[in-house]
Amino acid sequence: MSASGKSLLGLWLYRSGEDWAVKEDCPIPTIKAKQSSGEDRQELERVSITFTLKNQVGSLVRALQSFQDLGVNLLHIESRISDRFNNESDILVDVECEPRKLEQIGILLRREVQTMVFVKYKEQNEFTPPAPLSSTTSFDYGEMPWFPRKIFELDNAQHVLMYGSELDADHPGFKDAIYRKRREQFSQIARNYRCGQPIPKVQYTLEEIKTWGTVFNELHKLYVKHACKEYLENWPELVKYCGYKEDNIPQLQDLNVYLKRKTGFQLRPVAGYLSPRDFLSGLAFRVFHCTQYIRHSSDPFYTPEPDCCHELLGHMPLLANPSFAQFSQELGLASLGASDDDVEKLATLYFFTVEFGLCKQDGEMKVYGAGLLSSVAELRHAISSTDKIHRFDPDVTCKQECIITAYQNAYWYTDTFEEAKEKMRKFAEQIQRPFGVRYNPYTQSIEVLSNARKISDLVSELRGDICIINAALKKIGMRDSSLDLADLAQYLRSGLNSDCQETIDAISED
Ligand SMILES: [Fe+2]
Repeated sequence: MSASGKSLLGLWLYRSGEDWAVKEDCPIPTIKAKQSSGEDRQELERVSITFTLKNQVGSLVRALQSFQDLGVNLLHIESRISDRFNNESDILVDVECEPRKLEQIGILLRREVQTMVFVKYKEQNEFTPPAPLSSTTSFDYGEMPWFPRKIFELDNAQHVLMYGSELDADHPGFKDAIYRKRREQFSQIARNYRCGQPIPKVQYTLEEIKTWGTVFNELHKLYVKHACKEYLENWPELVKYCGYKEDNIPQLQDLNVYLKRKTGFQLRPVAGYLSPRDFLSGLAFRVFHCTQYIRHSSDPFYTPEPDCCHELLGHMPLLANPSFAQFSQELGLASLGASDDDVEKLATLYFFTVEFGLCKQDGEMKVYGAGLLSSVAELRHAISSTDKIHRFDPDVTCKQECIITAYQNAYWYTDTFEEAKEKMRKFAEQIQRPFGVRYNPYTQSIEVLSNARKISDLVSELRGDICIINAALKKIGMRDSSLDLADLAQYLRSGLNSDCQETIDAISED
């Protein structure tokens, strides 16, 4: 690679914060082109893709292979030495391709490149929505793993590790050609799905509904006795709004609408096991990746992978609980930009809480983990294995082995979700990351709190919320003597004051 293209690159693009933008007088035509042959002409879009590669033998070839694999023509290519690190090069590639292929290019390129920016050549008068404040000020990823900053970038975080449309030889459906074909249909739905689209509804077969009914009936008997109260609270609404019953498999789109109204969580169809990093990234945006297929009918009480019985019966009732939803999102936020080692620890903590967690309610051990709530045998086993149940301690729990094909060697409990959250927050502080992150629900984007101005803007927003709380407290306190103002004040102080005061003291001393 050479640096010869650097000046020309500068003619076309300029750095606006962390993003590359096209100069107004860009010499490249700003119109969409048409394919020149064939009756089914599809609109092509001209796009500049800038990515950064380590200077290693074959890295450029591997990156360019992505375009060849997708049949995308390269119109122009340039390279320059990166202005961030001497051992990296920035590559500019101009392509003309169908918009749907852009997503695929992103997924393939991500395996090879350090950073990546797409810039589309826009038609005249096209309105460009303002970018969120957090994404316009400079932020250097450096050696940090890429993570989605805007919700639609989750389209590029769909790395399925296992199954998908391919089943292992030990999968109960491996030898069933009809089941495998069916799984391919579900995989296609997940692969074609893009952020913001409604989730396609599925016409389940009688055999699939029968499998669901068998699992549903058996588990439902156990819920009344063993599920935590937050789980049971939402069950009647799931029956009413999402069609939870023995002879109907609820549709993800109906749950999507319901959850969005309850806690802001959204669902996204997924073909199989997603990589822990991509799965946790979704949680940061309150997006839950959810399988849509069902286990093989030959063994309704066994599945080597998550399926819709696990998702719908195990996860959905609790995602409708605000405190649990927040806990899940905070786990996701902690993972953004974290090292592989830290992501593994967070995935383990997710496993022993959201999947296999217990809580003590009214002196009894109850279940909230979806892995337990969707497995008749392991639910019974966990509740009766009192010697294996320990109080949740993230520093210890994160070292516990996660077992997929047999019962766990240990289970972990808290008294409340709030306790789990507080402990997770303390744990997240240890994660090596030179900034904080926050989800902005208005712009559906991640704000990277990497400098004083961003923190100052956030403090200003928070002050507004605190004023609202303060005014409401005064009004309610005047007419409702049962409101324990002292407790509330203490709760506010512990949340707002003590931790911040320590930090402020430390900064002041410096
Ligand atoms: Fe799960």
